Amino acid sequence: MTGGNGGELPTQMAAMVLTGHGGTEKLVYRTDVATPVPGPGQVLVQVTATAKNNTDRKAREGLYPTQDKNEVTSFQMGGEATLTFPRIQGADVVGRVIAVGEGVNKGRLGERGLLDFNLYPDARRTINLAPDYYGHGCDGGYADFIAVPSDQFHCIDNPELADAQLATMGMCSYQTALHMLTSARVKAGERILVTGASGGVGTALIQLCRIMGAVPYALSQADKADALLKLGAEAVLDRHTMQGFTDRVLAATGGHPIDAVMDLVGGESTNLFIDTMITDMTSRNDYPRLSIAGASGGNLSEILWTKIYLYQVQLFGVSHGTREEADQLIEWIRTEDLKPVLHAAFKLSELHLAEKYFVNRGSNYLGKIVIVPDTQWAEHGAPFALESAQ
Ligand SMILES: NC(=O)c1ccc[n+]([C@@H]2O[C@H](COP(=O)([O-])OP(=O)(O)OC[C@H]3O[C@@H](n4cnc5c(N)ncnc54)[C@H](OP(=O)(O)O)[C@@H]3O)[C@@H](O)[C@H]2O)c1
Repeated sequence: MTGGNGGELPTQMAAMVLTGHGGTEKLVYRTDVATPVPGPGQVLVQVTATAKNNTDRKAREGLYPTQDKNEVTSFQMGGEATLTFPRIQGADVVGRVIAVGEGVNKGRLGERGLLDFNLYPDARRTINLAPDYYGHGCDGGYADFIAVPSDQFHCIDNPELADAQLATMGMCSYQTALHMLTSARVKAGERILVTGASGGVGTALIQLCRIMGAVPYALSQADKADALLKLGAEAVLDRHTMQGFTDRVLAATGGHPIDAVMDLVGGESTNLFIDTMITDMTSRNDYPRLSIAGASGGNLSEILWTKIYLYQVQLFGVSHGTREEADQLIEWIRTEDLKPVLHAAFKLSELHLAEKYFVNRGSNYLGKIVIVPDTQWAEHGAPFALESAQ
């Protein structure tokens, strides 16, 4: 295959291949994987950075379970499991167009861009009923090259935004965050509780609240408070002291109930999060709303249905978002309304280390880890290596 510069592209590439459900031993670094060939309407991207998501680990471990905690399963929105092995994970891909498939304008060659990670089930722009994604239902960006639909690889050429920084703003976190907010009809001036606030989705939620004119209150850990306040949080609540939580929230809001909760934590805490919205129903202007897109704190919650229906709490389950929301986010990245929150970069061949670091992350961790192919490391990874993480 010939690249955009007329040179022959390698027929084999390096990739981190997931060989089955399990621990990091299931991730195998190979240098003899066939380089994908772009089909009609596709571009071939030379990957320079791919952001890590919590979902990579959960998909690898088979943690989309039923109530049986020991069951190993994959999510299967479209009716059957699309995660088959071997699989190359990695959803939020940045790179450069190096070849184009039939029907794609050659003018795209050389473009730097960000992939919209969705495998959309259909062409509808405002609804996405069976979410699946690159790195799950088909191969993703933990590789030297990836072939993707040209209309989902969005050119972003802001010169001061490094490739690794751009990858942190990928759709897995940001589109999910935006869909949490739009589902719950979040409006300017509303007070929003963001749980799991220091992670990929949480840091996206804080920024998006501010763009929409809403006021985010972050639930995190005390030693991340300064960074979260700088990012846009109005106040930061320590998740290690949940006793008297509602009173602490009311003290932070000046006595106003929370308008909507964006919950990434779940488990037994969600009951307390709902309480922050129902303290004074007559002072509210809209129903209490709870968007849920994650369960970092546990998959089972005990909540009284009487609380849900008597207080008219509206629940929104959120997974991914829509084409329209992806376009909006790309625009906010181009206009630099959104800022990257990059913790550190790791080499692709050292993804095992990144996975372990992610699970055992320390108190200074905020935002995203980015994985950079070894061939691109010097230019795109080394400036953001762990030693230089802030
Ligand atoms: N629905 C979707 O399509 C979708 C998309 C992306 C992510 N997700 C899910 O959303 C959740 C967040 O994703 P993410 O990528 O932002 O993950 P992340 O980067 O790992 O962040 C999660 C944050 O939650 C907090 N946390 C972790 N364990 C906790 C616990 N036991 N109790 C309370 N807080 C805890 C931590 O923040 P602090 O230490 O600061 O509290 C952590 O930074 C995950 O469950 C992920 O699987 C879902």
